[in-house]
Amino acid sequence: MADKSLDATTTTQTGIEAELPSVVVREFEPKDQVHVQRIFYEGLMEMISDTAFRGLRCHPESLLLYSAMAVVGFVVTACWWVIGLLPAVVLCGRYFCSRRVIHAYLKQAMKKDMGHIEEFYMKSPNSRLWVAVLEDQVVGVVAAVGQQDTRSSVELKRMSVDGRFRRRGVGLVLGWKVLEFAITRGYSTVVLGTTAYSPSAHQLYRRLGFQCTGVTNGYITPGATLSLFERIFYRVCHHYYSLEVKNIAIHRHPQTSVGVLTT
Ligand SMILES: CC(C)(COP(=O)(O)OP(=O)(O)OC[C@H]1O[C@@H](n2cnc3c(N)ncnc32)[C@H](O)[C@@H]1OP(=O)(O)O)[C@@H](O)C(=O)NCCC(=O)NCCS
Repeated sequence: MADKSLDATTTTQTGIEAELPSVVVREFEPKDQVHVQRIFYEGLMEMISDTAFRGLRCHPESLLLYSAMAVVGFVVTACWWVIGLLPAVVLCGRYFCSRRVIHAYLKQAMKKDMGHIEEFYMKSPNSRLWVAVLEDQVVGVVAAVGQQDTRSSVELKRMSVDGRFRRRGVGLVLGWKVLEFAITRGYSTVVLGTTAYSPSAHQLYRRLGFQCTGVTNGYITPGATLSLFERIFYRVCHHYYSLEVKNIAIHRHPQTSVGVLTT
């Protein structure tokens, strides 16, 4: 069995020395299930307003559509208040779509892996789920799923940190754990995808050394069933990130047994 815990003071492969709080990252245990599900649920719920409102700024094609709807509405009704009301209607519509999509995604995740964490992640040597423990509380979660046949890539999944413990290096340490998992098991790449618009997820992945390799505009979130109108009205971007780990080595600091990644 691999290391059960990881000291939290790390140097990333980008050479940034990070003095992190004493977060312990350990493998999931059945008693963590309720905490893991809560943190995952809360992180997902934040995505509703993130996608509905923050996401709007990233979709000029949607803004164009809403403007066209305003013009058509005005031409048909000849009422100025239609134009005045449209922003509220659009924002409510986006919130409604986003809520529906996120709830469908949550339902699918709970049915698949997050409802059966032990069976899904802990039975195979190619997958794992870890929790971050800080001040005796489970404060974060991350999972890794490796390709079994080719051993080429590991997918980083389910990254989420309790809102009360953010900006304390927990996400960084969880991400580092996935990189360590990939390296020790001989995978060459770590990949992930996110529909988040908030800078926190993107900055965290860049800070870990990931590079954005592509964006799908009009991504259909797993579990979601949207009508054609909803697909046009409510568009989502999915960012793909990747990091090659095959030339990264792990060293243990002789005194502190701290994990160090070097290229
Ligand atoms: C994304 C998330 C996991 C980050 O967790 P965290 O523990 O707060 O992250 P860290 O404290 O380890 O931050 C590491 C780096 O990420 C970046 N970062 C984190 N939060 C940020 C924010 N709000 N704004 C900008 N950069 C941020 C910074 O570069 C930070 O390094 P710094 O603090 O030295 O500047 C957390 O915000 C979260 O759970 N969000 C909701 C769920 C989510 O979006 N998950 C990812 C879906 S793919």
